[in-house]
Amino acid sequence: MKRLGVLWLVALSECLVKIPLMKIKSMRENLRENNKLKDYLEKYPRSHAHELLKQHWNPAVTYEPLKNYLDLAYIGIISIGTPPQEFKVVLDTGSAYLWVPSIYCSSPACAHHKVFNPLQSSTLLLSGQPVNVAYGSGEMSGFLAYDSVKIGDLTVVAQAFGLSVEEPGTSMEYAVFDGILGLGYPDLSLQGILPVFDNLWMQGLIPQNLFAFYLSSKDEKGSMLMLGGVDPSYYSGDLHWVPVSKPSYWQLALDNISMNGVVIACEGGCQGIMDTGTSLLTGPRNSILNIQNLIGAKVPSDGEYVVKCDTINTLPDIVFTINDVAYPVPASAYIRKGHSHNCYSNFEEGIDDHLDSEMWVLGDVFLRLYFTVFDRANNRIGLAPAV
Ligand SMILES: *[C@@H]1O[C@H](CO)[C@@H](O)[C@H](O)[C@H]1NC(C)=O
Repeated sequence: MKRLGVLWLVALSECLVKIPLMKIKSMRENLRENNKLKDYLEKYPRSHAHELLKQHWNPAVTYEPLKNYLDLAYIGIISIGTPPQEFKVVLDTGSAYLWVPSIYCSSPACAHHKVFNPLQSSTLLLSGQPVNVAYGSGEMSGFLAYDSVKIGDLTVVAQAFGLSVEEPGTSMEYAVFDGILGLGYPDLSLQGILPVFDNLWMQGLIPQNLFAFYLSSKDEKGSMLMLGGVDPSYYSGDLHWVPVSKPSYWQLALDNISMNGVVIACEGGCQGIMDTGTSLLTGPRNSILNIQNLIGAKVPSDGEYVVKCDTINTLPDIVFTINDVAYPVPASAYIRKGHSHNCYSNFEEGIDDHLDSEMWVLGDVFLRLYFTVFDRANNRIGLAPAV
């Protein structure tokens, strides 16, 4: 029996599929380099994103106001159809659909990206069902289709996905990725549409009903999505498990956020989501303003929080306590160096007067420090220091 157990473990690690991720230049950096950032921030101010979404409210649209892909920096490659057509997608734990641009899209954003040609896939099944998704930083509308989706060497058949016909607004135009592949719970998806990960599991393609992210801070390469298993060589010590508090986003309860042993935010507890599709650390307005003050972050003309670069060496860690375990975030992580010798705060306000405005989002800034397991089988999240 023991021998069998060992063999089973070997088999498991053999079946684990690693999807390499690329660290790319964010939309924010692209906009800044094209001198379009100021225009963009004026046109889409974060605090007004919810207002904008409300003005254009349409019951047929699925809103994801928490999402803002402006600073997104990790993408993977998937292919759709037979023969395969390749796309660069954000592997996003904070949403649950898959969508890519189509040949029917005439928005400027689509002209800059790979587009799916349904006429060239022998396995495609079109559905006339319209799909619309609005994010904090962009929109897409189109229609639903079903086709084979290949991720790593795994092929999901009859995967539902959105083909965009319109991607209004300037934001996607400057995105390095073509589309988005959501890894959230089905609850976050359109009704009746199973996300890619659910199909990977249901079609028996992975040995364990979980996935994990390793986001490298070192170089462009080395970041990884693991499907169906966990490779322990990517973290140190033991994984600490935290129950998912509401299975929709990958949401958990935080005990508090502190600096030098003093609670500075999330006093008495709060909720947070682990989101690979958000770059920064976002939270409620008052808490974020308090933290910006404490770290000496100021807002100059272009609406971004700037800090003095040399404070990286002197500012203390900001500690997120989750399920009684401390997860320190050092100044070298919550401050980022931009080009032209500026440094910026990696804390950002969440969107105001939204239902979930008390929600924290622990984005890539946090996930680079802590290897994260998203365990669907047990509805729990595992965290350990990344190597
Ligand atoms: C934060 O919460 C943890 C767990 O409840 C508690 O042990 C710790 O003392 C709190 N931190 C501070 C600075 O109060």
